[in-house]
Amino acid sequence: MSYPTRVKLVDVGPRDGLQNEKQPVPAAVKIELVHRLQAAGLKEIEVTSFVSPKWVPQMGDNAEVMAGIERRADVRYSVLTPNMKGFEAAVLSRPDEIVVFGAASEAFSQKNINCSIAESIERFAPVVAAARAAGIQVRGAMSCTVGCPYEGEVAPERVAYLAGLMKGIGVQHIGVADTIGVGTPIKVRKAIEATLQHFDLNDISGHFHDTYGQALSNTLAALAMGVWQFDTSVAGLGGCPYAKGATGNVATEDVVYMLHGMGIDTGIDLDQLIDAGQFISDHLGRPTQSRVAKAILAKRASSAACEAV
Ligand code: HMG
Ligand code: MG
Repeated sequence: MSYPTRVKLVDVGPRDGLQNEKQPVPAAVKIELVHRLQAAGLKEIEVTSFVSPKWVPQMGDNAEVMAGIERRADVRYSVLTPNMKGFEAAVLSRPDEIVVFGAASEAFSQKNINCSIAESIERFAPVVAAARAAGIQVRGAMSCTVGCPYEGEVAPERVAYLAGLMKGIGVQHIGVADTIGVGTPIKVRKAIEATLQHFDLNDISGHFHDTYGQALSNTLAALAMGVWQFDTSVAGLGGCPYAKGATGNVATEDVVYMLHGMGIDTGIDLDQLIDAGQFISDHLGRPTQSRVAKAILAKRASSAACEAV
């Protein structure tokens, strides 16, 4: 078995991580988080979503956040756009990439974006066409590829079906998401195999929530298949407002630690990443969800105490 030698991580913390926060997080804090992530070496950051502010009030400052970022030429800034209204608003913020997001389960599609899978594809098609005409990269996200909070287990055939629809409308890259973190390595492998029926390995990423503590194992299973792109969330922030009980994505810090330990390059400075996680955790007033960050912060504190003696 050979693992990739280099992995690209997309930090989705500012979007997936913060969308579920009940208290409004000021735009300035979101902007500072993006700045800290790019300073730590992240080359792609999912900044915000152009969804209905009635559905997800926390993302209502999307344009303000995008406008406040000091952009780096080597960083890609992505945003979620569920329909043409979202795309038309998003395009004014000059995203490098837009994300259309569908679900492998009908019930989740209805709860999350208020339409069926077939209707969602009809809505995405003009978004994808407009983005590609404007030279903006298009990523698709497939929710509930192993399990759904409303329908239970999701068969790989459902994933293949959605992947085929996404490919058919011109989506260039696809994310295989375990929205509620119920997946285990073989189930995740089957979801990725189903996606491979329509997308090249280089155009697939993993997006694993860590609700059941399986996300690192699932990441390793995907790596073993040659997948080299993953969405992760600094400090393990997050959860989807329409997937009750689901916690955040696997923490970026935990994935970086695992990859570096395996000799896999990410271009990310773990110490600076931990500082970024600490910044947002301090703002939210709760400890980081990253096990690696907790361990390294404890080590830092004990060596600072030793130096003080
Ligand atoms: P809808 O109510 O069916 O939309 O919502 P509509 O077209 O019937 O319009 C109703 C109202 O919403 C109208 O306003 C529209 O203008 C407005 P009104 O006339 O009533 O004042 N509207 C919008 N406003 C702003 N931006 C827009 C927009 N579209 C319509 N883009 C909609 C459909 C998709 C908009 C809604 O269901 C929605 O916003 N859902 C939010 C879903 C969401 O953000 N979920 C979390 C992100 S997905 C996720 O976390 C999963 C992922 O991480 C992968 C994984 O882990 O699974 C990606
Ligand atoms: Mg997610």
